[in-house]
Amino acid sequence: MNRLLLLPVLWAFTLIACRDTTPEEPPTPTPYVFQAPEGFPPFFDPEDNKTTIEGIALGRKLFYDPVLSGNNTIACADCHKQENGFTDPRRFSIGIDGIAGHRNSMSLINLAWQHRLFWDGRAHGLEDQALFPIKDPIEMHETLGNAVAELQAIPEYRELFWQAFGTRQIDSLLVAKAIAQFERSLISFNSRYDRWKQGLDTLDKSEMNGMQLFMDPVKGGCAKCHSFGAMFSDFLFRNNGKDSIVTDMGRFSVSGLPQDIGAVKTPSMRNVEYTAPYMLDGRFATLEEVLEFYNTGFHLGPHTDPFMSTLVKGRLNEKEKRDIIAFLKTLSEPDILTNPAFSKPQ
Ligand code: HEC
Ligand code: HEC
Repeated sequence: MNRLLLLPVLWAFTLIACRDTTPEEPPTPTPYVFQAPEGFPPFFDPEDNKTTIEGIALGRKLFYDPVLSGNNTIACADCHKQENGFTDPRRFSIGIDGIAGHRNSMSLINLAWQHRLFWDGRAHGLEDQALFPIKDPIEMHETLGNAVAELQAIPEYRELFWQAFGTRQIDSLLVAKAIAQFERSLISFNSRYDRWKQGLDTLDKSEMNGMQLFMDPVKGGCAKCHSFGAMFSDFLFRNNGKDSIVTDMGRFSVSGLPQDIGAVKTPSMRNVEYTAPYMLDGRFATLEEVLEFYNTGFHLGPHTDPFMSTLVKGRLNEKEKRDIIAFLKTLSEPDILTNPAFSKPQ
């Protein structure tokens, strides 16, 4: 046999011979690259949990898998539904024991840019947050030990953890890391508004007027809190005057500061068209109701954000309210509702 031909044959033999003796090299996961568009803050990719294609794939499977809940009936996705912008169309989500919580579920879009999670910001970062709902007695009501043991018993999961993290030994930290990676990949940056900003689309008169009103500190007064930056929120905690007597203490239960009584995280306005019902307790079914609240319905109490007292009641007429809503809808990105990369894996 020709010597040149022999070489690959010998090489193949050596490989086979070595197989049993050398430890298996962990695979190198493929980095996930997201180039934030102009105006967006840079994509947050923590040093100790870099987002990878394999990590996202694992996190996505976990997100849709009821195995993480106590009786294996509820997945994250049951209260964060893709077709509703990753929130829950029910006012209060129902957990595994049929008990409803007392807060409306939140959208999971663009979380890569947020570090204090939940309405009251009690979780710090997505890795920290991910284990809360699993343990929550009203939500998934499972012990982490049990959840991990169940995953460990499933060969497919052992393989996916190997691909993503180079180990088949599953633990809750890795579960949290994978879910966080999937959540970071849920990004919306391509609404009509974004395309308009890039000169690729037009907005009509009503939408343009709505934008002006939204920004105007006297007329709409919205951008004061739902800032006019890329996220349409500064994610600070505020009491927007929903009640004259505060029933949910909000941020106060975390910070203990009197100015935080009834204050909650200011939500982003992106995709708000899809995330009804609105507010911490889902009290408003439509954007029309929300606009009427900001026009006439807010209460000025000792804990209400001081900016609210600068807003004149009844300042917006019907057309102006409609225009603001028309503008809000330019921040919608219908693709996120069906994007197969965000959907339940087959
Ligand atoms: C039974 C319904 C339910 C289930 C199941 C559930 N969630 Fe939630 N989720 C909620 C509710 C309600 C909130 C708001 C709770 C609060 O602020 O106290 C929330 C808030 C969040 C937030 C905070 C978002 C933000 O903007 O601050 C994240 C992230 C999140 N959930 C991820 C998950 C993940 C991951 C899972 C699965 C491991 C999960 N959720 C399972 C109902 C649920
Ligand atoms: C003083 C700050 C402030 C101002 C001004 C303000 N908001 Fe809000 N907004 C908030 C906070 C805080 C919340 C969350 C409150 C809650 O859920 O209890 C919120 C909630 C909302 C929601 C519900 C979002 C969701 O996902 O549930 C919409 C819609 C909204 N605001 C639109 C507007 C519009 C439109 C204006 C102007 C007319 C406006 N806001 C003015 C702070 C403000």
